[in-house]
Amino acid sequence: MGDLEIGTEALAFTPAIARATRDLYGKVSHVVPEIEWAVHAPYIKAINDLKRRKNAVILGHNYMTPEIFHCVADFVGDSLQLAREAAKTDAKIIVQAGVHFMAETSKILSPGKTILIPDPLAGCSLAASITGADVRLLKQKFPGLPVVTYVNTSADVKAESDVCCTSSNAVQVVEDIAREWRVDTVIMIPDEYLAQNVAKQTSVKIISWKGRCEVHERFSAADIRSYREANPGVVVLAHPECPPEVVAASDFAGSTSAMIGYVGKHRPARVVMVTECSMSDNVAVEFPDVDFVRPCNLCPHMKRITLPKILHSLQTMTVEVTVDPEIAARAKRAVDRMLAVGKPQQRAAA
Ligand code: 13P
Ligand code: SF4
Repeated sequence: MGDLEIGTEALAFTPAIARATRDLYGKVSHVVPEIEWAVHAPYIKAINDLKRRKNAVILGHNYMTPEIFHCVADFVGDSLQLAREAAKTDAKIIVQAGVHFMAETSKILSPGKTILIPDPLAGCSLAASITGADVRLLKQKFPGLPVVTYVNTSADVKAESDVCCTSSNAVQVVEDIAREWRVDTVIMIPDEYLAQNVAKQTSVKIISWKGRCEVHERFSAADIRSYREANPGVVVLAHPECPPEVVAASDFAGSTSAMIGYVGKHRPARVVMVTECSMSDNVAVEFPDVDFVRPCNLCPHMKRITLPKILHSLQTMTVEVTVDPEIAARAKRAVDRMLAVGKPQQRAAA
């Protein structure tokens, strides 16, 4: 069968597909109902066959749904881990099961590779909050200060920046660049909450921007209190894109992978991950003995990525993500500098 000919017949849940995907279902049966598996399995089989034939890899962010995260992704992780993987993979085709800025980061790091995003509308409220022109104005207003830019930004914004960071290396990046530039203040954009949370962990002063993650800004300290009241003894893990009062009320704050690492290391009896919904499902697969309390804030952008769209993307080799080479070259300097600095960090919340 040709790449473009996978029709409804091929996508039926046949006994052969049930057999071929049995092991994968064994992995996710804890979080994916059988009735849903009948819909997912034919896509999973078709995607895995096609990606092998095309020598493509699928990079899956921790917020992907479990059928993507556990059944078709070749590499999974937080933003930093996916950026590192994009830089080192030998595959000529990368399908980014994540949002647009992640695909752009892959293209910046691997300009010679074909980077596909299954839905180009998978954006990010942080990336949408700032433009390259905004950064140029900030640099005029605060001359002589380095610009530390969260990877959740467009290539244009990265190109105006001195170094990038992710939630797992932000403190280290801020301290390193301040030392290197011999300054006591840095500009850190665009997430004001991440900037405030970083500022609590360093003596470096931070000038921030008014961007926010539309998923994490919705959590409040009152939410944390109610999780604790309803679930005595629950361990609360928060993403540093949450408001500082949420991080302060939590037991631990870290990137998506740092939260997973915490569960693996400490094996709490009961845990709540104050972040996007799919995380708990994905981690529950790995740690079935841990009881996950699941408040649900969905990222509408991440949820645009589905199995049918991944299959379509591989079949049609769309939508290809491109970055203007001049912008990409400047953005790469900031991303490379981060990759040289950033060793993933974890910390306990205050
Ligand atoms: P991580 O780098 O922690 O995976 O975060 C990415 C993101 O988009 C969180 O909202
Ligand atoms: Fe952006 Fe927030 Fe969605 Fe992450 S969860 S992609 S920061 S909107």
